[in-house]
Amino acid sequence: CTVARTEEEACRSLQVNKDHIHNNVHPRCEGSSVSKQNDDVYDYLWDNNIALAEETLHADFLNHMQDCSLEAERYVKFLLQDIIYLQEVTVMLKEMTERVREPEDLRHFMTGRYMSYKNFTMSCLQQFSITEPSFITPTEPIQNYLSTYRAVMEKDPIFFSVALLPCSRLWPWLAQHLQTPESCAYYTWKKDNMHGDPEKHYRAILNRYLNTTEKVQKANLIFRTQMQNEQNFFTSS
Ligand SMILES: *[C@@H]1O[C@H](CO)[C@@H](O)[C@H](O)[C@H]1NC(C)=O
Ligand SMILES: *[C@@H]1O[C@H](CO)[C@@H](O)[C@H](O)[C@H]1NC(C)=O
Repeated sequence: CTVARTEEEACRSLQVNKDHIHNNVHPRCEGSSVSKQNDDVYDYLWDNNIALAEETLHADFLNHMQDCSLEAERYVKFLLQDIIYLQEVTVMLKEMTERVREPEDLRHFMTGRYMSYKNFTMSCLQQFSITEPSFITPTEPIQNYLSTYRAVMEKDPIFFSVALLPCSRLWPWLAQHLQTPESCAYYTWKKDNMHGDPEKHYRAILNRYLNTTEKVQKANLIFRTQMQNEQNFFTSS
């Protein structure tokens, strides 16, 4: 299991889909380095919280992954925690697909993310021969991360989309920035995560529905909290 989280990556680690992979690889802009219009909420959220991404990039876990000195056991623990994350977020997304009947584009978004998470989670569980993911005990950072998601579920559904974005955007960014050599076993993590394209799922929908200052501010708080949750996951790994 290669712990990649967006739709494209869902297929990437599966041998059956190897052919599909190469068609799917495309250059992806990182967003942060490109200046965009001020009214682009999708970029505003990222740019406004880029410091958290930069700090996360220098987490001890990722430093060791990059220079290939990470203990294998530490990586296994990280993978298991990520499986709990994937499993629980899939369950929440399923509920969101049942809850959001309209508007059409938001419903489509939820269904798409649900299918992507579901497929990827299933492939991870199969790969590790895990039939009962709930036997894995989540660590505190993952518990907190999932609690934030659950709290956001009670709000307007657009905020659930916001809550999903840090994971989708941060992982490809980290993978692109890590200088892991190809000869290192952890190069797989870089390779499998670096081509994610969150923009195509998130940009239009966030820009469309986060159309008041109040909503943007609320979105920024949720985005920041989830970026912090990601950081806590990496720094505790
Ligand atoms: C998930 O898998 C199903 C069945 O294998 C497939 O129809 C669907 O297109 C996949 N969805 C994604 C987002 O990969
Ligand atoms: C914001 O978007 C919603 C949904 O499309 C729309 O109903 C509302 O009128 C918009 N508000 C503003 C201030 O543009």
